[in-house]
Amino acid sequence: MAYPITRHRRLRRTSALRSMIRETRLHADDLIAPIYIIYGQNVKAEISTMPGVYQYSVDRLHEEVAELQEAGVNAVLLFGIPEHKDSVGTGAFIDDGIVQQATRRIKELAPNMLVVADTCLCEYTDHGHCGVVHRQGDEAIVDNDESLDLLVKTAVSQAKAGADIIAPSNMMDGFVAAIRQGLDEAGFEDIPIMSYSVKYASAYYGPFRVAAQSAPQFGDRKTYQMDPANGREALREAQTDVEEGADMLMVKPGLAYLDLVRQIRDRFDLPVVVYNVSAEYAMVKAAAMQGWIDERAIVMETLIGMKRAGADVIITYHAKDAARWLKEQ
Ligand code: PBG
Ligand code: ZN
Repeated sequence: MAYPITRHRRLRRTSALRSMIRETRLHADDLIAPIYIIYGQNVKAEISTMPGVYQYSVDRLHEEVAELQEAGVNAVLLFGIPEHKDSVGTGAFIDDGIVQQATRRIKELAPNMLVVADTCLCEYTDHGHCGVVHRQGDEAIVDNDESLDLLVKTAVSQAKAGADIIAPSNMMDGFVAAIRQGLDEAGFEDIPIMSYSVKYASAYYGPFRVAAQSAPQFGDRKTYQMDPANGREALREAQTDVEEGADMLMVKPGLAYLDLVRQIRDRFDLPVVVYNVSAEYAMVKAAAMQGWIDERAIVMETLIGMKRAGADVIITYHAKDAARWLKEQ
């Protein structure tokens, strides 16, 4: 009988040993919690496609902010649902826009809470696209350079309202350079850009589009968001953002794209962010509500997997729960 020379199990013998050699750790500081802000008063409305996630009106934001602070989550990503939509998404860049109001409110309630503003137009345009659209029949031609001007205005107004980080998610070419220049000219040279560098045209955003009322009214996003089949192209997207001055690089969605998280971590030195998107959340919630999976164990395994893949920061709808569970460990 030949005995094994190498025994990997020696280091797994006790909990203390396993903890000592643990390669990856999750901390509440790694997490960003998305918040949906809606017009109106006294609104806290659960999102049908995302149980446990709510739309808040500005006057009730303090409830969510207090819960996040209590749990130890120190960063939020804001999405707004405006009262009026129009063809150019005016609600995205006006001084009293919904995200601008929410930003001011959060900075007043919790000055140390990092406010990340998602910079896009799709929640504010009546056609639901992320830029200016020239319609050709059933097709939406999204004009890149016209959109950039509006996105720059949006980013600047978000910075003026007090956003700590600008996170452009629109996937126009040149958006990082344009926004960097716009921010600098407006005196916001110290505000970093967390670029949605690698963003795929994904069905995993379905529940979000219900929550943010931002589904395209015609056409789809395939002429600006990436084809899920492409990996090398993702590196080209990230490379451009690095050259244009991005401060952090994001990969989105998460689970089906962790190979890109690893490749981007290996190729670039900037902090890497992964977005654990709405359908990833919804699938876990749905199975958990049926009693088919152990929600807590599944969520923690997913989040540690994202860190192991190379993410420094995770945007996730599980942020509050995960931070609470981390405290209990
Ligand atoms: C806006 C935006 C989207 C998401 C983040 N920013 C939707 C989209 O591009 O259609 C998706 C987030 C999620 O699914 O949780 N462009
Ligand atoms: Zn958009």
